[in-house]
Amino acid sequence: MLDLNELTIVKLGGSVITHKGSSPPAINQENLLRIAEELKASKESLIVILGGGAHGHQAAHAHGFGELSTPPEQLIRGIPSIRHNMSVLSLAVEEALNDAGGHGVVLPPFLMAALNNKKITSFQTSFIQEAIQSGFTVITHGDVCFDESLGASILSGDTIAVYLAKELRATSLYIGTDVDGVFEEDPKTNPEAVHIDIIDNTNITNVLSKAGPSNATDVTGGMKKKLEDLFTLTGLNVNIAIFNLGVSDRLSTLLSGKTPPCTTIRF
Ligand code: IPE
Repeated sequence: MLDLNELTIVKLGGSVITHKGSSPPAINQENLLRIAEELKASKESLIVILGGGAHGHQAAHAHGFGELSTPPEQLIRGIPSIRHNMSVLSLAVEEALNDAGGHGVVLPPFLMAALNNKKITSFQTSFIQEAIQSGFTVITHGDVCFDESLGASILSGDTIAVYLAKELRATSLYIGTDVDGVFEEDPKTNPEAVHIDIIDNTNITNVLSKAGPSNATDVTGGMKKKLEDLFTLTGLNVNIAIFNLGVSDRLSTLLSGKTPPCTTIRF
């Protein structure tokens, strides 16, 4: 593996960079421009991973992803429209980032990852490493990929984030969502839900028994799946935070090494 020095991975939740309920899908330009400015606070090499939001989940849902009975041929037929939508979204992020003075390049997982039964069996990271070593910010995203057993399946941005954090030995992983982190109940349906400031080995089992899936058209599993994926980073010393990307300055605060309101995770 090439030496990447300090590496930060940021996941931009799809519900913040797109208008998740809008059909046809629409980009949340206001948030995107703000986030592009905030990303400048990073002093480390940076991988930015986009969620699907309206662009990914609606198209995936329309082609039967997320339903066990959908035949492989139907899933494969969904590839072009999902890929198209994710390309549109990732190019908009690239443009916003580069207009703000960054040097972003998009590297799509469709070209790098192979899946079997929704699990990554191979992921070509050499292009990512080389792009980072060239001083670029790598932009990648949740995507649809070929799947040896299922024909095609959705690879979520969270899963990619965790995979790359492990593979490339990231120092920090910041997961941006549309809530202030992890709560004991869904804060959207219960405004009194108790916020969990820190998750570690002492409370993870308890937290997992409570955290529910997100309720929008989400084919990749919501908060519980995020935490289960993150738990696989045990022992790797990654600074993890789940934070509200919808609120100004939370991302830039994290990137400058401080802790805004969020859930920090240490396994
Ligand atoms: C989903 O990625 C990607 C597609 C549906 C193509 P994520 O699962 O990471 O997306 P968000 O952040 O929940 O929208």
